[in-house]
Amino acid sequence: MIIYEINKDVIKYRFGNPICTDAVVKEGIEIKNNDLAFKICEEENIKLRYKMNPDDTIYGLGENQRGINKRGGIYESFCSDDPLHTPDKKSLYGAHNFLIIDGSERFGVFVDYPGKVTFDIGFTNKDFLEIYVDDCNADIYIIKGNELRDIVKNFLNIIGEGYVPPKWAFGYQQCRWSYVNSTEVEEIANNFLKHDIPCDTIYLDIDYMEDFKDFTVSKERFPNFKNFVQKMKEKGFRLIPIIDAGVKIEKNYTVYEEGIKNNFFCVDKNGAPFVAAVWPGRVHFPDFLNPDVRRWFGRKYKVLIECGIEGFWNDMNEPAIFYTDRGLKNAIEHAKKSEDENLDIYTFFSLKDSFVNLSNSINDYKSFYHRIDGEFVNHYKVHNLYGYNMTRAAAEGFEEIAPNKRFLLFSRSSYIGMHRYSGIWTGDNHSWWEHILLNIKMMPSLNMCGFLYSGADTGGFNGDANAQLIIRWSQFSLFTPLFRNHSAMGTRNQEPFSFDKDSINIIKSAINLRYALIPYIYSEYMKAIINKDMYFLPLSFIYDDNMSKKVEDQLLVGDSLMISPIYEENAQGRYVYLPEDMLLWKVDDYKNRSYQVVRKGHMYLDVSFREVPIFIRKNKMLVLGKASKNVESLDNEELYVIAFVTDKAKYIYYDDDGKSYDYKKGNYSEIFIEIEKSDKDYHIRIDNRGNEAVKKLHFEIVDINGNLVKLTKAL
Ligand code: GLC
Repeated sequence: MIIYEINKDVIKYRFGNPICTDAVVKEGIEIKNNDLAFKICEEENIKLRYKMNPDDTIYGLGENQRGINKRGGIYESFCSDDPLHTPDKKSLYGAHNFLIIDGSERFGVFVDYPGKVTFDIGFTNKDFLEIYVDDCNADIYIIKGNELRDIVKNFLNIIGEGYVPPKWAFGYQQCRWSYVNSTEVEEIANNFLKHDIPCDTIYLDIDYMEDFKDFTVSKERFPNFKNFVQKMKEKGFRLIPIIDAGVKIEKNYTVYEEGIKNNFFCVDKNGAPFVAAVWPGRVHFPDFLNPDVRRWFGRKYKVLIECGIEGFWNDMNEPAIFYTDRGLKNAIEHAKKSEDENLDIYTFFSLKDSFVNLSNSINDYKSFYHRIDGEFVNHYKVHNLYGYNMTRAAAEGFEEIAPNKRFLLFSRSSYIGMHRYSGIWTGDNHSWWEHILLNIKMMPSLNMCGFLYSGADTGGFNGDANAQLIIRWSQFSLFTPLFRNHSAMGTRNQEPFSFDKDSINIIKSAINLRYALIPYIYSEYMKAIINKDMYFLPLSFIYDDNMSKKVEDQLLVGDSLMISPIYEENAQGRYVYLPEDMLLWKVDDYKNRSYQVVRKGHMYLDVSFREVPIFIRKNKMLVLGKASKNVESLDNEELYVIAFVTDKAKYIYYDDDGKSYDYKKGNYSEIFIEIEKSDKDYHIRIDNRGNEAVKKLHFEIVDINGNLVKLTKAL
């Protein structure tokens, strides 16, 4: 084992000869001894053991079940296409092997291993955190920092700067599996316009394709696709097609033919292209771990980009396998043998399992190979890199096809490091109230792992949603960078206008609030990206009192806000904990504003179905604009600055062109705002560094006694 330090806050331990995952982009070489109580117990399969104190909190693990505090659970990093996110599930679609231990010691651990890793966080033995790596080759990083947030920043610093979508991707987005043809897509768009509900995108799920073949468009259902894309853009909507990992096996289908010709597909043990079945029936999986394959596949997006498409979602890239011929044959043989038998319960269960376990079987994952540096590597060993590299292929392709243009891109499967290329959505959840809470808890954990552009299927993918669920979920999702309503085939329609008039108006108010908040949301998002920071934080990352550690259902959003979403059916209020005095704005219509100072401590907060409670932290401010039909038509010449000032508040309002990567070269604007309270008055200092769009700032400043002062400053 080699131990070396990569910078003063990160120690890297190398076990054996690990496969390079490209998760970490920053490297250094100085040696330092391990001074932490993390014990390495086994050398064959790596096993790390840490004795937890009763009060230690464990954060992290990104896309996963359970709480912000991960204690008490067992988690497996093995990207899984499992659409039933019940609390007992150990894996979802992502593999995010980063956690933070916070107690008598405070440090982060990142296990850089692309196969299966198990995190037993006091599940088997309540006092022990145990990490098992299913191999003896891995890099393990220990990340230090004084504050929890510093540990995250040090981690983000080594895994690189996060993905930034175009600004329009911060608008509301509408999806369903599927809007099957251009008529239906247009009807959806017209309904948004008719109801005057803002919306930026409409998604094309698998049925836009011809026989589920990537990079094709059904001529029958979407005749003259290019014109249609343009027409929809003129109406104010961008179309976002899905791309799946599996390539249909079909003679004369170019993607298939090219893949075969160039040996671009994963192979079985005999070196023949591996066959699995997904939506189109039999497919091959491109070997995305090979840079040539990435280059090839990435360029394929061009055919849709040339039709005017500016965003994609990459799906089924764990990769999901419905079945293989091997599995199906076994199951059928099993069934044939059982025919006319009087099956006892065990034989029957085993027969049933042979069908139930047809999909995403470990045996199948173990039966195909990638070529890495000329060597065959079993897929099972590198499973978690697959979706990551599919998405990397897309992002690298975009860069080549349209340099310096931002595309919307998010993926279902992911590994640490993929945040540099795209966002993620959290996959096939349900229209269950529990899944709003899961969504709330997952967001800061995802941020710790670098995934800032993320969000859940608002309203739930599987199952039927009622109006109240859509209302409450939208009232939370309006704070998530990716705000997309999506639902599965066969479920009740859940677009905002699918409900009664009253509910439509409430959902519309929530979406309007989202658009009014875009100046703040975008500013906070971009600062988090540039500063390698988080956008959603648990309370305990800012407040160090004991109670804040326990709060799992309130979040800090950016620098100024705390939110306390409602996630229980029929609830018209909830308990809220305030770590300090704050300014409460219960938003019904964002244009009608009234504020209330709420005191530090616990309170029961009434929240009617119409209301979204927003808390502005002490000596902080919120910048608010106006809603519009989509992001491009936002008129933010005049912004409202809502501030809660007891002595001095500072805010940096960030903006940029919203479409290029020029911000990386420092081409962005900032307005520094400072409000200082004197005896009777406020001193306001504004330093505008390059923002030419904003002409006026309307201040609404509230002091500790609730006195409101309104004044306007021209820029
Ligand atoms: C998968 C995706 C889901 C999509 C469906 C059909 O289940 O997770 O979002 O709608 O496939 O493409």
